[in-house]
Amino acid sequence: MGRIEIQALPGCDGLRLGLIAPDFPLGPLPAETMQAVIAQPAYWAFCWGSGLALACFLRAEPHWVAGKSVADLGSGSGVVAIAAAMAGAARVLAIDTDPDARLATEVNAAINGVTIDVRATTPLSTDLVLMADVLYDRSNLELLSLAQNRAHEVLLADTRIRALPDSSYREIARMDARTLPNLGEFDEFKTAHLFHWQHAAGRH
Ligand SMILES: C[S@@+](CC[C@H](N)C(=O)[O-])C[C@H]1O[C@@H](n2cnc3c(N)ncnc32)[C@H](O)[C@@H]1O
Repeated sequence: MGRIEIQALPGCDGLRLGLIAPDFPLGPLPAETMQAVIAQPAYWAFCWGSGLALACFLRAEPHWVAGKSVADLGSGSGVVAIAAAMAGAARVLAIDTDPDARLATEVNAAINGVTIDVRATTPLSTDLVLMADVLYDRSNLELLSLAQNRAHEVLLADTRIRALPDSSYREIARMDARTLPNLGEFDEFKTAHLFHWQHAAGRH
Protein backbone atom coordinates (compact mmCIF):
# COMPACT_ATOMS: atom_id res chain seq x y z
CA MET A 1 0.00 0.00 0.00
CA GLY A 2 1.01 3.68 -0.21
CA ARG A 3 2.33 6.03 2.46
CA ILE A 4 0.06 7.64 5.04
CA GLU A 5 0.36 11.42 5.35
CA ILE A 6 -1.56 14.07 7.26
CA GLN A 7 -3.93 15.95 4.95
CA ALA A 8 -6.19 18.96 5.57
CA LEU A 9 -9.83 18.52 4.54
CA PRO A 10 -11.00 21.24 2.13
CA GLY A 11 -13.92 23.26 3.49
CA CYS A 12 -13.75 21.57 6.86
CA ASP A 13 -12.18 24.25 8.98
CA GLY A 14 -8.92 22.84 10.31
CA LEU A 15 -9.83 19.16 10.40
CA ARG A 16 -6.81 17.01 9.43
CA LEU A 17 -6.54 13.27 8.87
CA GLY A 18 -3.81 10.73 8.25
CA LEU A 19 -4.79 9.36 4.81
CA ILE A 20 -3.09 7.48 2.01
CA ALA A 21 -0.83 9.83 0.01
CA PRO A 22 -2.37 10.93 -3.33
CA ASP A 23 0.35 9.13 -5.30
CA PHE A 24 -1.00 5.70 -4.29
CA PRO A 25 -0.78 3.11 -7.12
CA LEU A 26 -3.83 3.12 -9.41
CA GLY A 27 -2.56 0.64 -11.97
CA PRO A 28 -2.85 -3.17 -11.85
CA LEU A 29 -1.48 -4.56 -8.58
CA PRO A 30 0.35 -7.86 -8.11
CA ALA A 31 -2.18 -10.68 -7.51
CA GLU A 32 -1.14 -11.18 -3.88
CA THR A 33 -1.54 -7.48 -3.09
CA MET A 34 -4.91 -7.44 -4.87
CA GLN A 35 -6.14 -10.38 -2.81
CA ALA A 36 -5.00 -8.72 0.41
CA VAL A 37 -6.79 -5.47 -0.52
CA ILE A 38 -10.01 -7.36 -1.33
CA ALA A 39 -9.78 -9.46 1.85
CA GLN A 40 -9.29 -6.44 4.09
CA PRO A 41 -10.06 -3.14 2.34
CA ALA A 42 -8.35 -0.20 4.05
CA TYR A 43 -11.45 2.04 3.94
CA TRP A 44 -9.93 4.04 6.81
CA ALA A 45 -7.08 5.25 4.52
CA PHE A 46 -9.56 7.41 2.55
CA CYS A 47 -11.93 10.13 3.64
CA TRP A 48 -15.03 9.10 1.68
CA GLY A 49 -17.07 11.75 -0.11
CA SER A 50 -20.08 11.23 2.16
CA GLY A 51 -17.92 11.50 5.27
CA LEU A 52 -16.34 14.73 4.06
CA ALA A 53 -19.79 16.15 3.21
CA LEU A 54 -21.27 15.21 6.60
CA ALA A 55 -18.20 16.51 8.46
CA CYS A 56 -18.39 19.88 6.66
CA PHE A 57 -22.16 19.99 7.30
CA LEU A 58 -21.65 19.48 11.06
CA ARG A 59 -18.91 22.13 11.19
CA ALA A 60 -21.20 24.60 9.40
CA GLU A 61 -24.35 23.66 11.39
CA PRO A 62 -23.10 22.54 14.83
CA HIS A 63 -26.58 22.65 16.39
CA TRP A 64 -27.18 19.14 14.97
CA VAL A 65 -24.70 17.70 17.49
CA ALA A 66 -23.95 20.38 20.10
CA GLY A 67 -24.45 19.06 23.63
CA LYS A 68 -25.61 15.62 22.43
CA SER A 69 -24.15 12.16 22.87
CA VAL A 70 -23.42 10.92 19.36
CA ALA A 71 -22.21 7.67 17.83
CA ASP A 72 -20.50 7.53 14.43
CA LEU A 73 -21.33 4.10 13.05
CA GLY A 74 -18.74 2.92 10.48
CA SER A 75 -16.20 5.56 11.45
CA GLY A 76 -13.36 4.58 9.05
CA SER A 77 -10.77 7.36 9.45
CA GLY A 78 -13.00 8.94 12.13
CA VAL A 79 -13.79 12.00 10.01
CA VAL A 80 -17.43 12.35 11.11
CA ALA A 81 -16.77 11.55 14.77
CA ILE A 82 -13.98 14.15 14.86
CA ALA A 83 -16.16 16.79 13.18
CA ALA A 84 -18.92 16.06 15.72
CA ALA A 85 -16.47 16.51 18.61
CA MET A 86 -15.19 19.77 17.09
CA ALA A 87 -18.78 20.95 16.67
CA GLY A 88 -19.45 20.59 20.39
CA ALA A 89 -20.98 17.13 20.89
CA ALA A 90 -21.02 16.27 24.61
CA ARG A 91 -19.78 12.71 24.06
CA VAL A 92 -18.60 11.00 20.89
CA LEU A 93 -18.37 7.29 20.23
CA ALA A 94 -16.83 5.93 17.04
CA ILE A 95 -17.78 2.40 16.07
CA ASP A 96 -16.16 0.25 13.39
CA THR A 97 -15.92 -3.48 12.87
CA ASP A 98 -12.40 -3.07 11.41
CA PRO A 99 -9.65 -2.89 14.08
CA ASP A 100 -7.41 -0.88 11.72
CA ALA A 101 -10.19 1.71 11.34
CA ARG A 102 -10.52 1.91 15.12
CA LEU A 103 -6.77 2.57 15.43
CA ALA A 104 -6.95 5.17 12.60
CA THR A 105 -9.82 6.94 14.39
CA GLU A 106 -7.81 7.06 17.63
CA VAL A 107 -4.74 8.45 15.88
CA ASN A 108 -6.80 11.01 13.91
CA ALA A 109 -8.66 12.09 17.05
CA ALA A 110 -5.27 12.76 18.69
CA ILE A 111 -4.06 14.72 15.62
CA ASN A 112 -7.13 16.96 15.97
CA GLY A 113 -6.92 17.21 19.76
CA VAL A 114 -10.39 15.75 20.45
CA THR A 115 -11.53 12.95 22.73
CA ILE A 116 -13.38 10.06 21.13
CA ASP A 117 -14.36 6.74 22.65
CA VAL A 118 -13.65 4.08 20.01
CA ARG A 119 -15.50 0.76 20.07
CA ALA A 120 -16.21 -2.35 18.02
CA THR A 121 -19.91 -2.53 18.87
CA THR A 122 -22.89 -0.19 18.93
CA PRO A 123 -23.76 1.38 22.31
CA LEU A 124 -27.03 0.64 24.06
CA SER A 125 -28.33 4.16 23.73
CA THR A 126 -27.28 7.55 22.42
CA ASP A 127 -28.96 10.78 21.36
CA LEU A 128 -27.87 10.68 17.73
CA VAL A 129 -26.38 8.08 15.39
CA LEU A 130 -24.29 9.42 12.49
CA MET A 131 -23.48 7.30 9.43
CA ALA A 132 -21.50 8.23 6.33
CA ASP A 133 -20.93 5.93 3.40
CA VAL A 134 -21.87 2.78 5.26
CA LEU A 135 -24.80 1.70 3.08
CA TYR A 136 -22.54 0.81 0.09
CA ASP A 137 -23.17 -2.74 1.26
CA ARG A 138 -26.95 -3.29 0.98
CA SER A 139 -26.83 -5.75 3.89
CA ASN A 140 -25.92 -2.73 6.03
CA LEU A 141 -29.43 -1.33 5.51
CA GLU A 142 -30.31 -3.33 8.62
CA LEU A 143 -28.10 -0.88 10.56
CA LEU A 144 -30.89 1.68 10.11
CA SER A 145 -33.30 -0.20 12.39
CA LEU A 146 -30.47 -0.91 14.84
CA ALA A 147 -29.72 2.83 14.96
CA GLN A 148 -33.42 3.73 15.30
CA ASN A 149 -33.78 1.33 18.24
CA ARG A 150 -30.85 2.89 20.08
CA ALA A 151 -31.05 6.59 19.32
CA HIS A 152 -33.55 9.44 19.26
CA GLU A 153 -32.18 10.65 15.93
CA VAL A 154 -30.23 9.33 12.94
CA LEU A 155 -28.33 11.58 10.52
CA LEU A 156 -26.71 9.91 7.54
CA ALA A 157 -24.93 10.85 4.34
CA ASP A 158 -24.55 8.64 1.33
CA THR A 159 -23.51 9.13 -2.29
CA ARG A 160 -25.00 5.85 -3.46
CA ILE A 161 -28.43 6.06 -1.83
CA ARG A 162 -31.07 8.40 -3.33
CA ALA A 163 -33.98 7.19 -1.19
CA LEU A 164 -34.32 5.03 1.89
CA PRO A 165 -36.73 2.11 2.34
CA ASP A 166 -38.14 3.80 5.47
CA SER A 167 -40.18 6.85 4.42
CA SER A 168 -39.82 8.45 7.86
CA TYR A 169 -36.35 9.63 6.78
CA ARG A 170 -36.37 13.19 5.45
CA GLU A 171 -33.76 14.38 2.96
CA ILE A 172 -32.35 17.57 4.49
CA ALA A 173 -29.49 18.47 2.15
CA ARG A 174 -27.48 17.55 -0.93
CA MET A 175 -23.78 18.36 -0.93
CA ASP A 176 -20.80 18.04 -3.25
CA ALA A 177 -18.88 14.94 -2.26
CA ARG A 178 -15.30 14.13 -3.23
CA THR A 179 -13.34 11.25 -1.77
CA LEU A 180 -9.86 12.17 -0.53
CA PRO A 181 -7.45 11.41 -1.99
CA ASN A 182 -9.23 11.45 -5.34
CA LEU A 183 -10.41 7.99 -6.36
CA GLY A 184 -11.69 9.19 -9.75
CA GLU A 185 -15.28 8.21 -8.93
CA PHE A 186 -18.04 8.55 -11.52
CA ASP A 187 -19.97 11.85 -11.57
CA GLU A 188 -23.13 10.05 -10.39
CA PHE A 189 -21.41 9.44 -7.03
CA LYS A 190 -20.26 13.02 -6.46
CA THR A 191 -23.36 14.20 -4.59
CA ALA A 192 -23.99 13.18 -0.99
CA HIS A 193 -27.64 12.92 0.07
CA LEU A 194 -28.15 13.74 3.75
CA PHE A 195 -31.11 12.10 5.51
CA HIS A 196 -32.51 12.71 8.99
CA TRP A 197 -34.76 10.51 11.09
CA GLN A 198 -36.18 11.48 14.45
CA HIS A 199 -38.14 9.37 16.90
CA ALA A 200 -41.84 10.27 16.55
CA ALA A 201 -42.04 11.54 20.15
CA GLY A 202 -39.21 14.00 19.47
CA ARG A 203 -40.54 15.46 16.21
CA HIS A 204 -41.63 19.04 16.04
C1 LIG B 1 -16.64 3.45 3.15
S1 LIG B 1 -16.08 3.50 4.81
C2 LIG B 1 -16.69 5.08 5.39
C3 LIG B 1 -15.86 5.60 6.53
C4 LIG B 1 -16.21 7.01 7.01
N1 LIG B 1 -17.54 7.05 7.58
C5 LIG B 1 -16.10 8.03 5.88
O1 LIG B 1 -17.14 8.50 5.42
O2 LIG B 1 -14.96 8.33 5.45
C6 LIG B 1 -17.21 2.39 5.67
C7 LIG B 1 -16.74 1.98 7.06
O3 LIG B 1 -17.81 1.28 7.70
C8 LIG B 1 -17.28 0.16 8.39
N2 LIG B 1 -18.38 -0.81 8.52
C9 LIG B 1 -18.95 -1.54 7.55
N3 LIG B 1 -19.96 -2.28 8.06
C10 LIG B 1 -20.03 -2.00 9.38
C11 LIG B 1 -20.86 -2.43 10.45
N4 LIG B 1 -21.82 -3.33 10.25
N5 LIG B 1 -20.66 -1.92 11.69
C12 LIG B 1 -19.66 -1.01 11.90
N6 LIG B 1 -18.83 -0.57 10.93
C13 LIG B 1 -19.02 -1.06 9.69
C14 LIG B 1 -16.12 -0.30 7.53
O4 LIG B 1 -15.17 -1.07 8.27
C15 LIG B 1 -15.54 1.04 7.06
O5 LIG B 1 -14.54 1.52 7.93
